Amino acid sequence: MSVAKPLPHDAAPLHVTGTARYIDDIPTPVGTRHLAFGMSDIARGAITKMDLKAVKTAPGVIAVLTADDLPFANDVSPSVHDEPLLSDGDVHYLGQPLFIVVADTHLNARKAARLGQISYAEETPILSIEEALAADSRFEDGPRIWTKGDVDQALSQAPRQLQGTIHMGGQEHFYLEGQAALALPQEGGDMLVHSSTQHPTEIQHKVADALGIPMHAVRCEVRRMGGGFGGKESQGNALAVACAVAARATGRPCKMRYDRDDDMMITGKRHDFRIDYTAGFDDSGQLLAVDFTQATRCGWAQDLSLPVADRAMLHADNAYHLPVARITSHRLKTNTQSATAYRGFGGPQGVLGIERVMDHIAAELKRDPAKIRQQNYYQQMPQRKMGLDPSPPQTTPYHMPVSDFILREMTDALLEQADYNNRRTAITDWNANQTILKKGIALSPVKFGISFTLSHLNQAGALVHVYQDGSVHMNHGGTEMGQGLFQKVAQVAAHRFGIDVSHVKITATDTGKVPNTSATAASSGSDLNGMAVANACDIIRDRIAACLAELHQTATENIQFNDGMVQVGNEQITFAEAAQTAYLNRVSLSATGFYKTPGLSWDRIKGEGTPFFYFAQGAAITEVVIDTLTGENRILRTDILHDAGASLNPALDIGQIEGGYVQGAGWLTTEELVWDDKGRLRTHAPATYKIPACSDRPDIFNVALWDEPNPAQTIYRSKAVGEPPFMLGISAFMALSDAVSACGPNYPDLQAPATAEEVLNAVQRARG
Ligand code: MTE
Ligand code: MOS
Repeated sequence: MSVAKPLPHDAAPLHVTGTARYIDDIPTPVGTRHLAFGMSDIARGAITKMDLKAVKTAPGVIAVLTADDLPFANDVSPSVHDEPLLSDGDVHYLGQPLFIVVADTHLNARKAARLGQISYAEETPILSIEEALAADSRFEDGPRIWTKGDVDQALSQAPRQLQGTIHMGGQEHFYLEGQAALALPQEGGDMLVHSSTQHPTEIQHKVADALGIPMHAVRCEVRRMGGGFGGKESQGNALAVACAVAARATGRPCKMRYDRDDDMMITGKRHDFRIDYTAGFDDSGQLLAVDFTQATRCGWAQDLSLPVADRAMLHADNAYHLPVARITSHRLKTNTQSATAYRGFGGPQGVLGIERVMDHIAAELKRDPAKIRQQNYYQQMPQRKMGLDPSPPQTTPYHMPVSDFILREMTDALLEQADYNNRRTAITDWNANQTILKKGIALSPVKFGISFTLSHLNQAGALVHVYQDGSVHMNHGGTEMGQGLFQKVAQVAAHRFGIDVSHVKITATDTGKVPNTSATAASSGSDLNGMAVANACDIIRDRIAACLAELHQTATENIQFNDGMVQVGNEQITFAEAAQTAYLNRVSLSATGFYKTPGLSWDRIKGEGTPFFYFAQGAAITEVVIDTLTGENRILRTDILHDAGASLNPALDIGQIEGGYVQGAGWLTTEELVWDDKGRLRTHAPATYKIPACSDRPDIFNVALWDEPNPAQTIYRSKAVGEPPFMLGISAFMALSDAVSACGPNYPDLQAPATAEEVLNAVQRARG
């Protein structure tokens, strides 16, 4: 049995010994050139003159390319062709690539890139959400609005109402391996591209367009990324295309990697949001209606902003039944980096909106927020509890029935395991006796929809070979970024053949092996590729079985693959012998596999349908302490119960939950992006941008899996786990709000990120 085992990450020994190969570690041919972008120094305007003499004569410089030197498409956009690789004369943000320097070394390229003398006709940039709303600067004609019921009427009839606003900042991905690409020119004008990307097919596509050649002439290979987190869904396009274009121009291999500061200045980040809310509820804390206005800062180009904003709308309910709701979404165009995918893809922002509403209602009613949350949960999956289905399931604001809700039961279990009630009492007592330090505790749940909302993306392919010695070569369209996808899918392959996972070779993602792949994103990597690989394995296994059945004059049902052996009637042979036999009998031992998620239908304009195959769920309880003199704070303890279905690999899944939680907590606490009034990002290195360190991990960190099979027919009834736990970090933010609430009578109105400064401000607001 290979599935469900807590096996280590397949590359763990390589990671810890420093021998895992990333793009920058690939041995390069002699004569490889190195690239750097010259960047704009203003956020908005037109280039009046570009004097690149000093760049061209700088040491080591071989060539300098501008938009005029690009032979074909000057475009690296993943969506609507609105993102030129190099400025076409207009500048849209500070840091925008204007020209490419090709030099003998990485350092020479970077040094020369700073020597451009650029003159501009400068315009006033649109930087903030407020400025963009005022200027009506947006993607799409107007706001997108989804409704369920008559919200104005329901709000006016509700016994109680409250209003508020929460701002939440963006987030830098801070993948440990920066963006990188290496292009190697092949014979006849073909191009081989190694890219640190979550989306090899898109790299292939964009490079083909930039070189004016068909996709068959470009091959993209990705062995692994040192983290992607959504930041490598589209942001790698620029480097790959630049390398390919420069390789074509010079005939040499070209390589580019962003220095950390350049990476932060050039690439998109998580979307920051402002969410305004009006909630109607009754005296018991039951939510009757809610009106959300989500304003999101998309940056200068569309990139993935529309689906990100959609997903924020799709998660405006999180785990709660909203009987009547209106969700309005403004997708704002600003002169900042083009915001992009980031773990949760807008979901976390939507979820924070409703979590804030729950917290606010509890404060109004002076009730325990955990109780208000439980009270407003969707109904538990009814048929499972009662043996039949007494009532139709409740629906989301986008009219999808929630038939697999398990958070009521999970939350009860978590509150019990974490001894929540006693600890809440203890904290109240402790706070009563403390003047400077205050503690807080909070529960927050997550219900996250699994599937790409662009339905056609929910497909995957695989290619599996069995060799004569019984070893297996496995390939699929998913990419490895540390999440453990390759190991999980290898376990699936091993399981299908009944062999040990050590016999399955994990290979680099390669557009030449599996074509037309979707980005490894939306947490669906193992759902999609696991199924595609299983399909390919089953085809080969069935062929072997048919061959053996014929030879042994028995039915295929009598052929079993288990424990490295193949049972043929009463006889046993090794899997290797079975493979050898099939080979000698001229049976094809190679197959492609394919999978598409069933049952999806979605109208994103109306906001109606079934965009998701199922929901992944989880809950967290976080306890924090704050210093009311400085605003400094610590996470003391976190308890998580998370639903990974029947886990394919509990060790990897727990790793995803821990990492996701810490990254989510970082987003809402220490990670602050600051742009100055010229639009220059001031926090572009770890000296000023603070991601959680090991020491910020909760002192006590209990993570458990809710081990129950997925009712949806996923691979071995597992559930996607990559993004959902990120939203459990919201419990840390809510715990901070709880701690601040202990300082005074007012609702603290905590804003995100809750940096030490913001916590201090909130303490003042609470005191009044
Ligand atoms: N975990 C690690 N270690 N590194 C990453 O870059 N990306 C996250 C998540 N977990 C990421 C990660 C994101 S944004 C997604 S969508 C999923 O992994 C993608 O992988 P999966 O679909 O295989 O879960
Ligand atoms: Mo993940 S944001 O879908 O790459």
